[in-house]
Amino acid sequence: MNSSLRDEYLEAMGIRQWLLRDKGRPDNDAAASASQSGDDSPWLALQDLVSGCTRCALHATRTQTVFGTGNRSADWLVIGEAPGADEDRQGEPFVGRAGQLLTEMRRAAGLERDAVYITNILKCRPPNNRDPQPDEVASCHDYLERQIELIEPRLILAVGRIAAHNLLQTDTPVGRLRGRVHHYGASGIPLVVTYHPAYLLRSPLEKRKSWDDLQLAMQVINR
Ligand code: URA
Repeated sequence: MNSSLRDEYLEAMGIRQWLLRDKGRPDNDAAASASQSGDDSPWLALQDLVSGCTRCALHATRTQTVFGTGNRSADWLVIGEAPGADEDRQGEPFVGRAGQLLTEMRRAAGLERDAVYITNILKCRPPNNRDPQPDEVASCHDYLERQIELIEPRLILAVGRIAAHNLLQTDTPVGRLRGRVHHYGASGIPLVVTYHPAYLLRSPLEKRKSWDDLQLAMQVINR
């Protein structure tokens, strides 16, 4: 493992000090949204279905659905839990504080925005940020499954307990799911588990481990 890169990552994650990433390593964020390619129609059909969804009670309390964002042909598919208040308001996943940390993690690991697509297990916000309930996860399952089919990612990064447990159908703690490569469902897509950035904000010392998780994920991609 390259130790200076690791140091840079830890600095960027606030373990030592914050760095202005953009100066050293161009991110191409602005260019990323231009890189969509292929036939839009299955995506538009799916987006339509999701935005009008009334399958579970969450439709009554949402401001809007939060479908997903990023490169639809990305190698990495990042899957979080569910929209929070900021995401519900803005209609995009991971735009709040946890999302900012996720962006820092991605940049510090040298991953361009173009390399990832980001979505959640649930497309609607659970009130008061409570955990998603099984019927809500079941209602949303087809949508996520279709996103995975369309993207055909080379790697799924399951971010946090709710994503890991639902994608792997287990209740093993995240700390024990990390550090090895799992495989998702029938498609067998390699899946790596890491801590949720909201947890990392509360437990900053665990940020070091997220570096190892991203390195493991990189190894899978570079195989
Ligand atoms: N937490 C998540 O898991 N997803 C989001 O989109 C925002 C916060």
